[in-house]
Amino acid sequence: MLVLAAESSCDETAVALVEDGRVLSSAVYSQVARHAPFGGIVPDIAARMHIETVAEVARRAFEEAERTPDQVDAVAATYAPGLVNCLVVGLSWARAFAVARGLPFLAVDHLEAHVYGCLMSPLGDPLDPDKVELPLVALLVSGGHTAIYRYEGPGRMTRLARTVDDAAGEAFDKVAVLLGLGYPGGPEIERAAREGDPKAFDFPRGRIKRRPLDFSFSGLKTAVLYATRGQNKKRDDPLLPGLSIPDVAASFQESVCRTLIDHAVKATLEQDVATLALAGGVARNGRLRELALAAGDKKGLDIVLCEPAYCTDNAAMIGGLACARLAGGEAPDRGQLALGASSKSQVG
Ligand code: KG4
Ligand code: ZN
Repeated sequence: MLVLAAESSCDETAVALVEDGRVLSSAVYSQVARHAPFGGIVPDIAARMHIETVAEVARRAFEEAERTPDQVDAVAATYAPGLVNCLVVGLSWARAFAVARGLPFLAVDHLEAHVYGCLMSPLGDPLDPDKVELPLVALLVSGGHTAIYRYEGPGRMTRLARTVDDAAGEAFDKVAVLLGLGYPGGPEIERAAREGDPKAFDFPRGRIKRRPLDFSFSGLKTAVLYATRGQNKKRDDPLLPGLSIPDVAASFQESVCRTLIDHAVKATLEQDVATLALAGGVARNGRLRELALAAGDKKGLDIVLCEPAYCTDNAAMIGGLACARLAGGEAPDRGQLALGASSKSQVG
């Protein structure tokens, strides 16, 4: 079964071809350079760029997969959550393809697809159904979302914890701006942190009363602001003389990563499952991956680190999940063709 998948929830235009769970191609056009001068994503620019690029990205996906549109058996696209103006581009493009060719269409949840990505094999390799044991607990850390889920398989995902303010990736992006580093902030902070001392600053580890698994990163952001400008100073105030940007970056990264892993490990033990998986853009972070592996060793947990190519937004994870749903016996009904794009996930 050959699935054509599209993803356009944020600033990546992505199209993939996935055959029985094996990723044949995963074309991604990142708009990051276009948004970098603004220090964040500008939704209207993002939507326009999806319109301009989706057909070319799809052409690349077919070329790399060495398949033709006539060979497609089913079509899938992200319908939620994300920027609605952006979602509708990939969704409408994919639906038009499905309707014109009389193919079944599957509307896919972006968050579930991020988690499902942890079960997938690298590009070109067949799906290995024994790769990961289910159920698992997933830490999903991206620019738009930070949450912990219990995942039992397609359609069976329950949220255990979430952030009450910023997503972890958003905190990386905002702190990078405070430090005068580029966008997106995650990779920039990780790079700067390599030269820094993670113990130089004792940044707070956001805790929420009576909700020990939830996250809060706004206090940490303010702590970084004051550490770099002085107490009660504003963002536009000058940096303190002699400040070591690498030390701030390393200490910030350490605080975020330790909090994420502590909560995720706690949730995994509470759920009494053997596997903790890391998904989403922030899951590319080397320090986060290192801390997860160390915690897994200590607590006897299997740690699944999502393939870096499936951590940040891509359509392979959308196609992979669609294949799993079809293999599980789902018969896509016409209702999925009518499902509107939404900023909210049904999964939570
Ligand atoms: O999953 P993703 O591509 O998009 C969303 O669905 O949000 O995640 C993008 C986020 C950005 O905030 C970016 O700064 C962060 O992932 N990110 C990282 C790293 N690479 C990307 N954060 C920390 N360390 C990294 N190496
Ligand atoms: Zn994402």
